[in-house]
Amino acid sequence: MDPKRIFDYAREAEAILILQGNENSVDKTFFYLTGVDGGLFEGSALFVTPEEVKILTSSLEEESARRTGLEVLVYNRKSEYEKYIKELLNGYSTVGLNYSSLTLDRYKDLLRVVPDKEFLDVSVSISEARKIKTKEELDRIREAARIGSEAIGTTVGKIREGMTESEVASLVAYEMMNLGASEPSFSTIVAFGDNSSMPHYSPGNRKLKRNDTVLIDFGARYKRYCSDITRTFVFGRADQEQKEMYETVYEAQRKGMEAVRANRNGKDADLAAREVIDHSKYKGRFIHSLGHGLGMDVHDHPALSPNYDFNLKANMVVTVEPGVYVPKKGGVRIEDDVIVTEEGYDLITTATRDLVEIS
Ligand code: GLY
Ligand code: MN
Ligand code: MN
Repeated sequence: MDPKRIFDYAREAEAILILQGNENSVDKTFFYLTGVDGGLFEGSALFVTPEEVKILTSSLEEESARRTGLEVLVYNRKSEYEKYIKELLNGYSTVGLNYSSLTLDRYKDLLRVVPDKEFLDVSVSISEARKIKTKEELDRIREAARIGSEAIGTTVGKIREGMTESEVASLVAYEMMNLGASEPSFSTIVAFGDNSSMPHYSPGNRKLKRNDTVLIDFGARYKRYCSDITRTFVFGRADQEQKEMYETVYEAQRKGMEAVRANRNGKDADLAAREVIDHSKYKGRFIHSLGHGLGMDVHDHPALSPNYDFNLKANMVVTVEPGVYVPKKGGVRIEDDVIVTEEGYDLITTATRDLVEIS
């Protein structure tokens, strides 16, 4: 990743220091700027200027760090780490930090080591840069989308009466990892029957019965990048209500997707989809936003929402996921991932969007 992109939005910073925490305070900027696709790099740091990125890490991660081709400084003791930090920042007075991922204990430690610097928050600059994906990032997201799209096909072929929601969720994870995912990109949602009326339902022990709706919201992580897909099926023959609900959501998705294009407002895409649902018998039952940005985070940045004034740009990646939810009856969501282009969008999730009746 070219570090200049971050400085494009943070011109006041002479240098940026990224301090990597533990698994509870991972700063994905570390991976964004180095491209390393394995490891946690706990206790490591990045020294970043518009011209270069240097990795300061312990011997634990030395080999992974060297594979990046970037300059690597290795420490064994905390005193060595602190000496490197002082040396790296020598001559720089204004240093950018990613306040949104930095823990207070690391910040206080830094103040003790280099008390003479002026620190400023560059978290907004980082998130702005991350919204527009590079070719390498798009390649990874495309692969995550391919894996997810194929995995749902093979999963459906294995769904049987009496399986629990949790069993189906583990099947999806198995299929995705078999196809090359490093892990699911978030906890898979599998909801049978009326459980599908809860958008963020967690799978449980409910057993699959004939004519149940089967909603599966899942994604693959590939080299740290995510896909996010939802498909809603019927186990058996769909009744009139299930068909009508599905067709309404599908039409809303078509209209929402058609409104995605560079230099258009995300609000308008949301509205285009929402109007379809609000002009149907499901008025008011689309109870979330149309979509969000996708990248190293599943919810990378807000994108398509009535409450968010936001112009889309080429090479952003967003989800388009309308849904209808009727308590005690059930719900339908159809979710796909698109790359925003100057002409419109490039649909990268390829699983069929027609209503599938699982036999
Ligand atoms: N899986 C959560 C979402 O679709 O945003
Ligand atoms: Mn999803
Ligand atoms: Mn989503």
